[in-house]
Amino acid sequence: MEERLQKILSHAGIASRRKAEELILAGRVTVDGAVVQELGVKLDPACHTIAVDGRSLSGAEEHRTFLLNKPRGCVSTAHDDRGRRTVLDFFRDIPLRLYPVGRLDADTEGLLLLTNDGALTQGLLHPRFEVDKTYWAKVTGELTEEKRRYLEEGVLLEDGRTAPARARILERTPRGGLVELTIHEGRNRQVRRMLAAVGCHVTRLERIAFAGLTLAGVDRGTYRELTAEELVGLWRIAGGKA
Ligand code: URA
Repeated sequence: MEERLQKILSHAGIASRRKAEELILAGRVTVDGAVVQELGVKLDPACHTIAVDGRSLSGAEEHRTFLLNKPRGCVSTAHDDRGRRTVLDFFRDIPLRLYPVGRLDADTEGLLLLTNDGALTQGLLHPRFEVDKTYWAKVTGELTEEKRRYLEEGVLLEDGRTAPARARILERTPRGGLVELTIHEGRNRQVRRMLAAVGCHVTRLERIAFAGLTLAGVDRGTYRELTAEELVGLWRIAGGKA
């Protein structure tokens, strides 16, 4: 049965009707993940997930996932001994416990997902699902067809040979160029080490795609929330429920 949102909140014991209106106007109430700031919206609570400050009326924390275009110089851990900015600093206005899905080095920029859905994180990081990650690496050092093929076939690193990858040379300059590398492993500093193994030094590294998602429309240092369709796509890749 449809009821006004403020009535649903007060019936759930969240707040008085008036306080519930204030919560709505303050943008603290979401319906199916989207903020609803108008009073008087009518809906059936049995058909929607209604949350206040990210906590659904049933008490469970609503799962939300964001795509950040990480700038250089911030770390992907929750804290940094050296006091550098962390990726969580971009989400100060989101009252959820978010965690990055894997890591990017402090000096790597680009696509990083953050979520409070532990199962999704586990699936996306599990080696079994071979989730694709694509990087653009600006390098110094000659880029040859032979090196490109070696990168694709697997290069020998101190922690073993890398899995087959896709490598494209996008640009050649007198001193280096730009390489696109798609890998599905997630070893520490893997792209830098793979390129070092073929005699190239990475001067700039950007992740441009992850699990089919790209940075389109998301400027450096900003984020957006994933859509329901994108989440279904991720779950498909991460081997779980849709
Ligand atoms: N490979 C790297 O070398 N660095 C990253 O941040 C990600 C992949």
